[in-house]
Amino acid sequence: MSQTTQTAGDGTAETVTLIDNRTGKKIDLPILKGSTGPDVIDIRKLYGATGCFTYDPGFTSTASCDSAITYIDGDEGVLLHRGYPIDQLAESSDFMEVCYLLLHGELPNAAQKTEFEATITRHTMVHEQLTQFYRGFRRDAHPMAVMCGVVGALSAFYHDSTDINDPKQRMIASHRLIAKLPTIAAMAYKYSVGQPFMYPRNDLGYAENFLYMTFGVPCEPYKVNPVIAKAMDKIFILHADHEQNASTSTVRLAGSSGANPFACIAAGIASLWGPAHGGANEAVLKMLEEIKTVDRIPEFINRAKDKNDNFRLMGFGHRVYKNYDPRAKVMQQTCKEVLAELGIKDDPLLDIAVELERIALSDPYFIEKKLYPNVDFYSGIILKAIGFPTSMFTVLFALARTVGWISQWKEMIEDPGQKIGRPRQLYMGQTPRDYVPVEKRG
Ligand code: SDX
Repeated sequence: MSQTTQTAGDGTAETVTLIDNRTGKKIDLPILKGSTGPDVIDIRKLYGATGCFTYDPGFTSTASCDSAITYIDGDEGVLLHRGYPIDQLAESSDFMEVCYLLLHGELPNAAQKTEFEATITRHTMVHEQLTQFYRGFRRDAHPMAVMCGVVGALSAFYHDSTDINDPKQRMIASHRLIAKLPTIAAMAYKYSVGQPFMYPRNDLGYAENFLYMTFGVPCEPYKVNPVIAKAMDKIFILHADHEQNASTSTVRLAGSSGANPFACIAAGIASLWGPAHGGANEAVLKMLEEIKTVDRIPEFINRAKDKNDNFRLMGFGHRVYKNYDPRAKVMQQTCKEVLAELGIKDDPLLDIAVELERIALSDPYFIEKKLYPNVDFYSGIILKAIGFPTSMFTVLFALARTVGWISQWKEMIEDPGQKIGRPRQLYMGQTPRDYVPVEKRG
């Protein structure tokens, strides 16, 4: 992948010139241009030229890599996967197609789609020994703790796809992770409710198979509702990838050391778990349940605005989106479709969510800070209606995001310029001092 150095009209390279007023030295830093979105200032020579690091905690203004997978325009509320808008993919595509698109860069033709789906289907079973890992957990363990452990353990089973320098092994590992995450997630749920694990079925589609393994039981046939399966598939699409978010950056950093893909995805799952990130969908539902009634909304809006209260409106705000998260719009529509299909006329949680959104979006605090609903705001309401416990919400996010993580990991490994990630720091600690024997300490 090659960035292009920005050139001015007369052909000279465009640069940003820094003047170090400690020395009067001028440093010209090249500007690199991608295919769209903000240009970047190439600072790779900065430390050598100035003896200074850049300083950007939380990476609010830092591009950690170049990538061709996903593009977000936060001001316009645009999300593209390989150039295709998320609302078009959610409306017209399916999760298997989106997986192929993220991995390979193009939508599959009919033959490629059939082959890809067949490959994924054939990898949905897990090694039978893997089921033993679940027995080591308490039944009430948080399913995300189980996911961290079991997905990390995949490294111990699939040695024939851990050589990251072999393109074939990279692709098999990618297929295995996409295929096995639904099985592992469904098993985490089954274990938590004390029901037997259900084996995947090769005659079912991806989302349908996951719902079957989650809610089916061995004692009787289980027919998945096609409307719910379609909604599940759409929810997977909405969570598939999202540029260099915290968990994707975790996967990239872990992978930059040469760690195997299974271990890297386990690292991504751990990062996603946080309530500021993928754990927000679980936190949103808990917040809506705490609010209980529409008339208590102002109390919580005031708490969210109170600097002395660390309460935040979960499912609101985003580091990149300073407009409505396009995924939240699709999610809200899907929520209404699922509730209608399930005959849920008025869901009090949805009523609270819709009213909370209306009040927040008319409040100067949220308008000034450009805080809008994000992907997590409505997802929990749908998942609860389908029958998932709150503790499974982030597990489903991890299931869907695995294709994004592994596509970003693969892009990084295949980048000839790839090197281990090793950020520096602004040191604020003690300067050198001599050791004091314990008998001489105060
Ligand atoms: C995801 O990065 C991704 O792409 C993530 C994700 C993906 O698909 O991978 O989109 C998935 O993680 C979505 C976000 C889910 N998290 C939540 O819904 C948790 C609630 N939201 C936040 O905590 C917050 O908005 C973040 C973490 C999402 C973003 O935080 P930032 O960008 O670091 O912004 P910030 O914390 O600096 O907030 C800016 C201001 C602050 O006020 P000031 O200090 O400037 O006065 O906005 C305020 C914040 O206090 N603010 C909120 C708020 N979010 C930000 N105030 C009340 N409620 C909120 N939700």
